[in-house]
Amino acid sequence: LHVIHIAAEMAPVAKVGGLGDVVTGLGKALQKRGHLVEIVLPKYDCMEYDRIRDLRALDVVIESYFDGRLFKNKVWVGVVEGLPVYFIEPHHPSNFFWRGQLYGEHDDFKRFSFFSRAALELLLQTGKKPDIIHCHDWQTSFVPPLYWDLYAPKGFNSARICFTCHNFEYQGSAPASQLASCGLDVHQLNRPDRMQDNLAHDTVNAVKGAIVFSNIVTTVSPTYAQEVRTAEGGKGLHMTLNSHSKKFIGILNGIDTDAWNPATDSFLKVQYNASDLQGKAENKEAIRRHIGLSSSDVRQPLVGCITRLVPQKGVHLIRHAIYRTMELGGQFVLLGSSPVPHIQREFEDIANLFKSNEHVRLILKYDESLSHLIYAAADMFIIPSIFEPCGLTQMIAMRYGSVPIARKTGGLNDSVFDVDDDSIPTQFRNGYTFLNPDEQGLNGALDRALNHFKNNSQSWQQLVQKVMTIDFSWDSSALQYEELYEKCVARARAASS
Ligand code: ADP
Ligand code: GLC
Repeated sequence: LHVIHIAAEMAPVAKVGGLGDVVTGLGKALQKRGHLVEIVLPKYDCMEYDRIRDLRALDVVIESYFDGRLFKNKVWVGVVEGLPVYFIEPHHPSNFFWRGQLYGEHDDFKRFSFFSRAALELLLQTGKKPDIIHCHDWQTSFVPPLYWDLYAPKGFNSARICFTCHNFEYQGSAPASQLASCGLDVHQLNRPDRMQDNLAHDTVNAVKGAIVFSNIVTTVSPTYAQEVRTAEGGKGLHMTLNSHSKKFIGILNGIDTDAWNPATDSFLKVQYNASDLQGKAENKEAIRRHIGLSSSDVRQPLVGCITRLVPQKGVHLIRHAIYRTMELGGQFVLLGSSPVPHIQREFEDIANLFKSNEHVRLILKYDESLSHLIYAAADMFIIPSIFEPCGLTQMIAMRYGSVPIARKTGGLNDSVFDVDDDSIPTQFRNGYTFLNPDEQGLNGALDRALNHFKNNSQSWQQLVQKVMTIDFSWDSSALQYEELYEKCVARARAASS
């Protein structure tokens, strides 16, 4: 199959969170299975350009419609992690992608509706005939309605559309009139069965549009797929998902096991594997020295946490976990940053409070190389999310032998199974879980993990070895996507013959 992903992120060149990891990881896995996979991204100013190979400008100018006129786009092509990537650079006066950050701009709705239209123009004007166009998250969810309303009727119709929602918290809502900018018909689409927001009339909802207009709709774990079909979890879209339930499915993400591999990871001080954990201990020692934590006691447990600091991630529980870990004699390292100013300030205050404490370190920035070191160094890893569509950090942590302590929600519920839960077959138990999103709930899991670590080092080591050998690769999930694509393409062919 020829599969084109249109997305706003791609690791490692343009990544804010897990979306970037998934576009690259799924893309590579599908490519490995023999499919032709290409990616379309905006050309941001703040990309990691040194990680794009063979970047060159194409000899074409793509014209795309926006706000009543045609704009020219320069197109670049390069290779990221072995995948061909097209980067669109618009000549729009608002410098849509030269803002020093990927998201969080006042005109994000405009920026990404522009990008969605330009991406389709790129495919059309360069003569691509993909079998599947796979869009991700609200930023590219203008593609499905644009495709079926404007492009397919003109004969650009070889593709079927797959939309993956990585997080229903972000839906891309705006006053209905703004939809016209990218050429969509406001009167046709601002209707309850199309793009009209379920909670606010005269507002359109980009994710709703993608659900309605795509052939396949997925989200990133089976548990989250159930949660979002309830009034509590669906953030206003549960009715829409229920009425399109036949094409909606949750597929658990994998991780890129080449990029995340302690046996080859060049960011680490020492590489290691499940049958030789000495290297893990050396990384722990190294990071403690590097960030100024006491390293006098080798047996003092180190709890890690790497996250965007947003309410979804249970910031109040992360804060509590710092204090609780100290009470129980452990050490804590947090690597995270927040787009929410008051949360960033709150954690800066905690960081300052503990500046000269030898057992807590808060590093409040995005730092990829440090993240690898922390996954490797930590004995356990905390993810107390309020909701979590999939979550990748628990899987990466396990790959590096950090035992997860996670709240039972979304994808965490599909990947972390409590060592003390008799209802789960022993071979699947791999961490500590809790249900209630409060301090008692968290203590119930964190205390057990720390006690296990302190009181039974032999069985702890067995647990570490076990979690390191679990298969979190993309193999089985990519196969599920492939089957969905193939069925959908076969149905379309059958219908047209
Ligand atoms: P989300 O996409 O909701 O942020 P995921 O668990 O799916 O959560 O993915 C988070 C990804 O971002 C992981 O690869 C994680 O290592 C990375 N990450 C999060 N915060 C940071 C940070 N401050 N520095 C480096 N990497 C980070
Ligand atoms: C979103 C979700 C996260 C998921 C990631 C990749 O950012 O918050 O749970 O792992 O997308 O699908």
